[in-house]
Amino acid sequence: MRVPAPSMRVDVLTLFPAIFESPLRQSLLGRAIGSGLLDVRVRDIRDHAHDPHRTTDDYGYGGGPGMVMKPEPVFEAVEALGPGSRRTILLSPAGRRLDQDLVREFAGESWLVLICGRYEGVDERVAQGLPAEEVSVGDYVLSGGEAAALVLLEAVTRLVPGVVGNVESLGPESFGADIGLLDHPHYTRPRSFRGMEVPDALLSGDHARIAEWRRQAAREKTRRNRPDLLEGDEPAG
Ligand SMILES: C[S@@+](CC[C@H](N)C(=O)[O-])C[C@H]1O[C@@H](n2cnc3c(N)ncnc32)[C@H](O)[C@@H]1O
Repeated sequence: MRVPAPSMRVDVLTLFPAIFESPLRQSLLGRAIGSGLLDVRVRDIRDHAHDPHRTTDDYGYGGGPGMVMKPEPVFEAVEALGPGSRRTILLSPAGRRLDQDLVREFAGESWLVLICGRYEGVDERVAQGLPAEEVSVGDYVLSGGEAAALVLLEAVTRLVPGVVGNVESLGPESFGADIGLLDHPHYTRPRSFRGMEVPDALLSGDHARIAEWRRQAAREKTRRNRPDLLEGDEPAG
């Protein structure tokens, strides 16, 4: 069988390559890599340190607690990838927040480079000089960029053409361009579980009624969990 040319290449630059070993072998990511649609190369930034201790961090100018990742090994790790058209992303809580629009944008690229920070973060000249776009996976602070890189990678990979076999299962979804709401609730068997019933509409076999129930339920869930998504869409209350 002919293996398709990868639709996307991703180079991940990290001080902890082992973190990626299991996640890249499982489920969607494992299948995408196994089928040749996704080519992920995890690279150790420490390979680009030049002293005997393989130092990649140092004290921050201006004082304060914690170490800062040095720029030289990160620049050299990126430069070692060679030339080519790509998006270079620095995972950072101070970055632009990742959302489904940005995920769709990244999914349209053929080559991404993800740089994972640690400690107090990465010397600012990495973002400034490489340059690298700073992207945050949410308003909280992780201890490293590895989990953030996996979040981005998984969200992007499921939009890479051919990765999700059944295109139907890609939509409508939460944050979908088509609905702009959260996904509607889903149910499977059994029909009755611990006193909780599957809504009648879903058992009716009436496609119009099912569609209307899903629209209403999605709106209700959005109002309850993410009212900000409805702002400007309807009167408050
Ligand atoms: C402890 S954090 C640094 C936090 C930084 N001093 C601050 O307060 O903004 C270390 C690394 O984890 C990663 N990280 C932490 N939270 C993140 C988030 N919400 N999104 C993306 N990356 C994050 C970044 O790569 C960051 O350089």
